[in-house]
Amino acid sequence: MELRVNGKDVTAHDPHQSLLEFLRDDLGLTGTKYGCGEGQCGACTVLVDRAAVRSCITPVSAAAGRTITTIEGLETNGKLHPVQQAFLDAGAMQCGYCTAGMILSCVSLLEHHPHADENEARRALNGNICRCGTYPRILEALRLAAAAGGRRG
Ligand code: FES
Ligand code: FES
Repeated sequence: MELRVNGKDVTAHDPHQSLLEFLRDDLGLTGTKYGCGEGQCGACTVLVDRAAVRSCITPVSAAAGRTITTIEGLETNGKLHPVQQAFLDAGAMQCGYCTAGMILSCVSLLEHHPHADENEARRALNGNICRCGTYPRILEALRLAAAAGGRRG
């Protein structure tokens, strides 16, 4: 199966693997985290064709022929994506375990709703859990990113 991951064409051989296993174990893209493994926490969120997807419950075969973006693929020529920069500016992480999934969920939201308000943000992030409770700063980061244009700069 051919996939495009962070701008590179790659091949997956085991259709029984999850997309998360393929990204972490085969490609070494460990920025995508394993949390619950059941689609409940959002730590494993990646973009599949620009939509936020739980990679732990997505078979790699379901991503064949599609475009995947992980946290490692967000920066462009050494420049952080506006959402990554906003998370830094807002200090929107503590342990950082949820951060990649949070950022990718925010990127997906702003791709589809560049002027998302706080209610839309809360709904979009409803499935992403932060055990450190940094939600207020995450919402502030999303507000900063939306104000900065939200999408890739
Ligand atoms: S690890 Fe995938 S949703 Fe929790
Ligand atoms: S910063 Fe620790 S889980 Fe969110």
